[in-house]
Amino acid sequence: MGIAQLVQATYIVSGVLFILALQGLSKHETAKRGNALGVLGMAFALFAVIVEIVDGEPSLVTIILMVGAIALGAGVGIIKALKVPMTGMPELVAQLHSFVGLAATLVGFNSYLEHWETGADGAHLVEVFLGIFIGALTFTGSIVAWAKLSEKMSGKPLTLPGRNLLNLAIVIISIGLGYWFVKTASFHEFTVDGLPAFGAEKIALLPLGAMTALALFLGFHLVAAIGGADMPVVVSMLNSYSGWAAAFAGFMLGNNVLIITGALVGSSGAILSMIMCRAMNRSFVSVILGGFGSESGAVAAGGEEEGEMHEVSAEGVAQMLWDAKSVIITPGYGMAVAQAQYPVADMTKRLQDHGVEVRFAIHPVAGRLPGHMNVLLAEARVPYDIVLEMDEINDDFKTTDVVLVIGANDTVNPAAMEPGSPISGMPVLHVWEAANVIVFKRGRGAGYAGVQNPLFFKDNTLMCFGDAKATVQAIVAGLPTA
Ligand code: TAP
Repeated sequence: MGIAQLVQATYIVSGVLFILALQGLSKHETAKRGNALGVLGMAFALFAVIVEIVDGEPSLVTIILMVGAIALGAGVGIIKALKVPMTGMPELVAQLHSFVGLAATLVGFNSYLEHWETGADGAHLVEVFLGIFIGALTFTGSIVAWAKLSEKMSGKPLTLPGRNLLNLAIVIISIGLGYWFVKTASFHEFTVDGLPAFGAEKIALLPLGAMTALALFLGFHLVAAIGGADMPVVVSMLNSYSGWAAAFAGFMLGNNVLIITGALVGSSGAILSMIMCRAMNRSFVSVILGGFGSESGAVAAGGEEEGEMHEVSAEGVAQMLWDAKSVIITPGYGMAVAQAQYPVADMTKRLQDHGVEVRFAIHPVAGRLPGHMNVLLAEARVPYDIVLEMDEINDDFKTTDVVLVIGANDTVNPAAMEPGSPISGMPVLHVWEAANVIVFKRGRGAGYAGVQNPLFFKDNTLMCFGDAKATVQAIVAGLPTA
């Protein structure tokens, strides 16, 4: 087998490993294995690229650049991954997408400049143009998403007058610039020195540069127009864009594994965005076009309090749990903030040992990223078979003695069942149907959507105020020992 065949065969192996990785990541039991397969696939891909470069007898400068880039990328990746808290994951993902967008833009320019004196065929020029367009849009869009998520920029949507027309105009002008670029850059007349007869290669940089500037602005404008509540969907959509940008870079570089990986990331990101929109009852198109749907999103007001809240102490909760036959725990973003998953796992074990049936109910958008609660519970070694999805457990609340709502709010809000609320139509966990509901939160603040929660004022609801971790630790300490 020659080197070229070895490289292509390795690319196919890594492509298959990436597909198996995605399959593994779709279930929590197999997620760790999926991750490991993805890492292995990337190691194979990197190996093949290095073999390909070395086979081309590179200069010393190329080797130094290659080793330097690998060391720098790996170093930054390791430091970032070790430092990031679970709640900061969306910001990190947004940052990484901006790198992919920038890389695709640079690859596009490089790919054009490499061939610019000899002229390139039309198909390659279209790849260059589209690759730069999507790359530049992903770059600025991801930076804005990162700035909004890390509160370096206001989460309020930027709603310029006629913003949708402006976006449309940019797309139409870009199509025109694309036509100009391809027509000019695919010149056919040369001087005696072999250079383009009228400097067409340089003139073509004009539409390419103008389009890049417009795409950079479009990325900024599209994401700036999206409200805070929709940001996680936007991050997953930018994930999809970064995949398509990588796929175009693969076409430009003639690299098959980049095409396969880019297409996998592009399509899985788009599917994930649609799943998240469905779970939040948001229109996919309105989220992506930015600003359309923000009127009913996170910016909604807190609303008036309705009635009285009844409080309970951690000791009181411990006794109720000890006396119960069945308990369901519904965790939310507050459990992540408090890092309460470890004492929650201890409490679960103690109750199970006492003969209480304990299960977890997971809402598809609980927390701030898909699978957030599953990851936290897996981290604390809560057995997978007692962690159930909303659809699997929603009918069981009516026959449950005690429900613990640990740092969840929007995902258990009965207002979603009524018309007129900003979260109307969003499927929620029917916790209020249980005999007793205990809500753990620090104060009287609303959830992410900023909507008041009538659950807190129901007769069968008791509020246990305080940081979720400290409260659950106090409950564990208060459980009888026999
Ligand atoms: P949220 O509605 O965000 O409510 C979190 C609750 O946790 C708040 O009521 C807060 O009340 C409490 N809390 C915060 N820190 C706490 C701490 N240290 N100890 C105890 N309680 C604490 O949570 P949720 O039910 O998980 O809903 C998720 C929201 O995010 C939904 O609106 C969803 O649409 C949105 N969202 C999620 C995703 C994904 S993919 N997960 C994507 C897009 C949007 P206090 O401040 O009073 O403590």
